[in-house]
Amino acid sequence: MANLNRIKLVLVEKNKTGKWLADELGKTSCTISKWCQNTIQPDLKTLNEIADLLGVDVTELIVSKNKKVEKKAVQYNLINQDVLEGLKALESDSFDLCIVDPPYGASSKHNWNYDKKEKIAGFGGEWNLENEAWDLLSQNDSFLNTFAWLKELKRIIKLEGSIWIHATYHNSGFVNVCCQLLGLEIINEIAWYKRNSFPNLSGRRLTASHETILWIHKGGEKKRKYFFNYETSKAFYSSSDLLKEAGKQMRTVWDIPNNKSKEEMKFGSHPTQKPLKVSERILALCGVEGGNLLVPFAGSGTEMIAGLNFGMNVTGFEIEKEYIDIAQKRLEDALQKKQYSLF
Ligand SMILES: C[S@@+](CC[C@H](N)C(=O)[O-])C[C@H]1O[C@@H](n2cnc3c(N)ncnc32)[C@H](O)[C@@H]1O
Repeated sequence: MANLNRIKLVLVEKNKTGKWLADELGKTSCTISKWCQNTIQPDLKTLNEIADLLGVDVTELIVSKNKKVEKKAVQYNLINQDVLEGLKALESDSFDLCIVDPPYGASSKHNWNYDKKEKIAGFGGEWNLENEAWDLLSQNDSFLNTFAWLKELKRIIKLEGSIWIHATYHNSGFVNVCCQLLGLEIINEIAWYKRNSFPNLSGRRLTASHETILWIHKGGEKKRKYFFNYETSKAFYSSSDLLKEAGKQMRTVWDIPNNKSKEEMKFGSHPTQKPLKVSERILALCGVEGGNLLVPFAGSGTEMIAGLNFGMNVTGFEIEKEYIDIAQKRLEDALQKKQYSLF
């Protein structure tokens, strides 16, 4: 562990006091004061707990001789356009990371007798489908669309970069087959375990309580040059993840409750909004400070905000004006909080 920390600075940035931290951790104010003065240091597990409580990446709490802690100014570009059109304008090999949360194609217009008024979707899970136009592609169109955007992403992502794709059983097969057809190597398939999933009311199937996330790169077996922050993955700790132990290798099951805080919803909600914690973890593993993040399906802007907070320049596409408005407000808010300068 580094022999200096930034706990005091981050407490001030977050408008928190030493006493608050002492109460949260069950420590004495004297211990917190010594940490703040850098006379003694917390162990790695405690440092991770502090990061979790303050809602920052653990690296923000560590002063490293090698790494500049000052955040660079970053910018975002949120584009109200069909992503298939928009991607064509982006340069090849220009993005370090791409986080994709596409429409799952799990529409009620398929013969699943989904009643729009019902809380539980006809597909049996917790996905509260909204009959949104963007989720109403026929299965065939869904496959062709997946192939089309994935092909473009392969062109745009750098050899050292990687692409993370959210899926459920509605579309994960498509994504997997498209990756294979395009020669995109799957690095890992993550099961995002949603401990607090809504129960299955019909009792006719199991309670859907996970989504999959595919982590892929374009170099194939011969050029595995993708960036992976292994040290961070090992050190990673979150008090809400009952499966991950600090200091042990990260596994492919992530225990992240599907809760959004009031803060995450304060500018309005999106029917399939993800909790920030999911993309924050992806950024911790593959984010490149000062690099470029692409978010093809921005929705309410969750992945873009995680990117800005991490210190990446972010480009996002969203076809619906309603969601552009929410995302725009959230992004501005995030920029203000982080005191990043827009240029
Ligand atoms: C699954 S949601 C993303 C939600 C996002 N992760 C969040 O946390 O808010 C997919 C989004 O893609 C948008 N979308 C669908 N088709 C699109 C297209 N062709 N171009 C751009 N955006 C599209 C939808 O309007 C929807 O907001």
